[in-house]
Amino acid sequence: MADRSQRRVTKAVVPAAGLGTRFLPATKATPKEMLPIVDKPAIQYVVEEAVAAGLSDLLIVTGRNKNTLENHFDRNVELEAALDAKGDTERLRRVREAGVTADIHYTRQGDALGLGHAVLCAALHVGDQPFAVLLGDDLIDVRDPLLETMLRVREERGGSVVALMQVPREQASLYGCAAVETTDEPDVVRVVDLVEKPEAGEAPSDLAVIGRYVLAPAVFDVLTKTEPGRGGEIQLTDALRTLASSAEHGPVHGVVFRGRRYDTGDRLDYLKTVVRLAAERDDLGPGFREWLKEFVGGEHWELGEVKP
Ligand code: G1P
Repeated sequence: MADRSQRRVTKAVVPAAGLGTRFLPATKATPKEMLPIVDKPAIQYVVEEAVAAGLSDLLIVTGRNKNTLENHFDRNVELEAALDAKGDTERLRRVREAGVTADIHYTRQGDALGLGHAVLCAALHVGDQPFAVLLGDDLIDVRDPLLETMLRVREERGGSVVALMQVPREQASLYGCAAVETTDEPDVVRVVDLVEKPEAGEAPSDLAVIGRYVLAPAVFDVLTKTEPGRGGEIQLTDALRTLASSAEHGPVHGVVFRGRRYDTGDRLDYLKTVVRLAAERDDLGPGFREWLKEFVGGEHWELGEVKP
């Protein structure tokens, strides 16, 4: 029977223990989740997304540099007093906004044994109820709600739900990849198999798992029994594969996302994200767009090179 226990999801887990090697040396002493997307750290977008979907109990699974993250979501009384004294109410609002909207907890992943292991570190906090997992590298545009749809699908169909996105076949080996069957609802599929980062040409489809999950608590039990997989790490994808074929703890459904997703874990995509979001901002956008047009279309470009 499908796992429909405790239907309402209230908790979200945000793994934030990765080493961020692609962004060194910026991430030597700062977690990659704290890198700014315009003027907000990446993880704040993720926290805001969870809160907007009604999940206000968050567990951040950290590794090193836990203090920076904790400080960001805490009050900063001195800073607030200084802004208040200056009458800078707008900045004061933005500083306060960072922390007070959610009930944020922290736990530490001692050893970096993989995403599955990071999720397992949340077992005690989550307990026996379904929960969401949001990966900080994937930013979902606030205008294209995804998590809400996933929560609804979980309520209606039980089990677990993953977010899927169509990617060019040659990119499938960068992701967990799903074999699926259609359901009676467009863009909701039944996941029948999953492969973490398949070898080129071996992807079961062009549907990649992106960093949003709503998981049945049975995943914890499965994770404790999941052997290290791709890269020698305990993979969440492998645990989901087990759930997908379990009569007792499945099913696993996929919500096919067709909105705007920004991959901020990759330096080129990170730059694109910052440019796009800055260009769309009401305050910075007009001036930035004007400069961008001049920069890209103007005399700065010659044979693909930027003149000094
Ligand atoms: C992780 C997951 C992978 C998923 C991806 C989405 O991989 O293991 O299945 O497709 O996130 O961003 P990572 O990007 O952490 O290597």
